[in-house]
Amino acid sequence: MKSDNDLSNRTADESLCSLLVGFNFLFFLGLLSALLILPLKSAFSSSGQADTHSEVSEAETQADAGASEPIESASAGKQAYQICATCHGSEGEGNAALNSPALAGQEPWYLKRQLQKFKDGIRGSHPEDIYGMQMRPMSMTLADEAAMDAVAEYIAGLPKKAPVATLGGDAAKGKGAYMLCQACHGANAEGNKMMNGPALQHLPDWYIVRQLKNYKAGIRGADPRDIEGMQMAPMSKTVPDEATMKDIAAYINSHAVSD
Ligand code: HEC
Ligand code: HEC
Repeated sequence: MKSDNDLSNRTADESLCSLLVGFNFLFFLGLLSALLILPLKSAFSSSGQADTHSEVSEAETQADAGASEPIESASAGKQAYQICATCHGSEGEGNAALNSPALAGQEPWYLKRQLQKFKDGIRGSHPEDIYGMQMRPMSMTLADEAAMDAVAEYIAGLPKKAPVATLGGDAAKGKGAYMLCQACHGANAEGNKMMNGPALQHLPDWYIVRQLKNYKAGIRGADPRDIEGMQMAPMSKTVPDEATMKDIAAYINSHAVSD
């Protein structure tokens, strides 16, 4: 935007420039995504501006230098997250009234895998999975892998919050029952990527209990394509009853720390 070239062509380029400034994030999204760059480029060249290409290559050079890339990818994630915020909260803190768990505190690899599962109907398609079925169409708002990556990275940057207890579980009792879980979810429920086990610390107790019930009932983790869910489903069967589920949830949450 600062070159002499721009200044001398100011009048001719005025509308294009303001377009580029106004939609800067879309522009960089275009550079990051092969799917987006083509329609954007063709839209610009159809305006008949000869200098469009120098604008594009200048921006490409900046992006190659790496200076603005993370910022712009974060803003794409932030943009995609706007719709998620209506249920999961503006900081990913969750919303019990909307049955939506906290997302803040979860790692990108797990978030992305769940989003992909929702999209593919591997999660949230069982007729008794009423909450999963609310989430499923939302995953469809993320057009491709780049969009899932961007939103997962954005969520990973949100501040963690220790959940408020709602079920009155007994953490001391839950400790013993959690022993088996630590092999995959970590001693402090911080997650273990090698075992495919997500962090559980920050998840609200009502969500933890609901997932354990869903796994037990074959509502989640029963689809043969759900490889990780099928690792978890038999584990849920080791938890004898709802009271133990609540105790485990209380123990898990005792490790949660707010940022
Ligand atoms: C209409 C409300 C709603 C909106 C909007 C929504 N979600 Fe959800 N989401 C839910 C509910 C409800 C669940 C819990 C499903 C369950 O209980 O199995 C959920 C679950 C999830 C999970 C699984 C969490 C876990 O720990 O396994 C992820 C990831 C997720 N949502 C991400 C998103 C993203 C990203 C967006 C935006 C693109 C989004 N959600 C938009 C309602 C919503
Ligand atoms: C053999 C490894 C393993 C063990 C042991 C295990 N889990 Fe899991 N668990 C997993 C995996 C893998 C997933 C993720 C499934 C997926 O990606 O869809 C998971 C998912 C979960 C979830 C859902 C998290 C979310 O965000 O939706 C909960 C809750 C959970 N486990 C609780 C437990 C509890 C409680 C125990 C102990 C009784 C336990 N797990 C034992 C592997 C394990």
